Amino acid sequence: MNEKIARLREAAKSAIDEAVDLNKLNEARVKYLGKKGAFTAVLRSMGEIAAEDRPKVGKIVNEAKTEIEKLIVEATQKLKAAALADKVAGETIDVTLPGRKQPLGHYHPLTLTLDRIKKIFLNMGYSVEEGPEIERDYFNFEALNLPKDHPARDMQDSFYITEEILMRTQTSPVQARTMQSHEPNSPIRMIAPGRVYRRDDYDATHSPMFTQVEGLVIDRGISFADLKGTLETALQQIFAANVGVRFRPSFFPFTEPSTEVDISCVMCHGKGCRVCKGTGWLEILGAGMVHPHVLEMSGYDPKVVSGFAFGLGVERIAMLSYGIDDLRLFYDNDVRFLRQF
Ligand code: PHE
Repeated sequence: MNEKIARLREAAKSAIDEAVDLNKLNEARVKYLGKKGAFTAVLRSMGEIAAEDRPKVGKIVNEAKTEIEKLIVEATQKLKAAALADKVAGETIDVTLPGRKQPLGHYHPLTLTLDRIKKIFLNMGYSVEEGPEIERDYFNFEALNLPKDHPARDMQDSFYITEEILMRTQTSPVQARTMQSHEPNSPIRMIAPGRVYRRDDYDATHSPMFTQVEGLVIDRGISFADLKGTLETALQQIFAANVGVRFRPSFFPFTEPSTEVDISCVMCHGKGCRVCKGTGWLEILGAGMVHPHVLEMSGYDPKVVSGFAFGLGVERIAMLSYGIDDLRLFYDNDVRFLRQF
C-alpha cells in the first residue's frame, strides 16, 4: 500500500511538473485530488486494509495530498506569472517604429488667392463688404443702370428664383448696397469678394458658379487716374512687379467710361502663346468710373462726388498665378490636385 501511494505521489508530482498551462495543471488536479481522483480512491479502499494500519496509511495519504495541493498552488502561480509576462512582452510598444502621420489640411488655392487679393486692398485702406448670393433683381440689375428691358442683361443670363429674386450674376450689387448703407456722399473704399452665378456651360474656362472681387471707391475728386494707379499697383502686387498693364475701352451699364484691363501674358511675357491666343495680353478685369445715374439711384450726388469701380475674377487670377489650365480642377475636390498648394 505504501508503495502504491509513493508511486501515485511521484506520478502526481511529475504531472504537475509537466503541465505546460493552467488547463493541463487542472487536469492533473482532477486526476489525483478530484472526487474521482486517485487519492480519493485510495481513501475509499481503506476497508481493505488491516484496521491497525489504517491511521498510518491515512496519514501518508493526507501528507501526500497536502504536498500535491501545495505544489499545484505554486505551479498555478508560476503559470499565471508566465502567461502575464508573455502577454506583456507581446504588447510591448516599439518606440522605434515610425509614427502614423496625421494628414494636415490646408487652404484651397482659391482661398489662398482671395486672401492675397484681400491683403493687398486692406493694405491700401479698403474695407471688406459682403452681400447676399441670393439677390434682388433691383440690386443685381436695376440699381446698376440695367432696367428690365435693357439689352445688356443678356450678357449675364442668370438663375431666377422668382421674377424679382435671382442668384447674383456679379458682385456689383454690393456697390449699391454699400452706398445705400452709408450717409449720402460719404466716402467709400471697399472690396466685396464672393460667389456669383451665371447660366454658363461647365468647361475648362467657364463655370456656372465662380468668384469675383468687386471694388468701389467714392469720394470728392476721384478720377480715372486714381482708377489706373490703383489697379496698376494692385495687379503688380498680385502678379510679378514687372507685369504690363493695359486699359482698353469697354462697356458696362453702371460705369462711364468703362474699361477692360489686360495684363501682359504671364506665360510668354508678351511674346504671344496659346494661353494669350498669340496676343501677348490677358484680359483680367472690368472697371470704370461709377455712372452718375448709379450714384444718384443710391442717394449719392454726382455733382459732389465721383468714384471708380472694378470687378475681377478670382479663378482666372488663380489659374494664371499657379499655371492651372482647367477651371474645373478648383471644384473637383481631387486631393491629388489640392495637395499641391
Ligand atoms: N460686374 C462686371 C462683370 O461681372 C465687372 C465690373 C465691375 C465692371 C465693376 C465695371 C465695374 O463683368
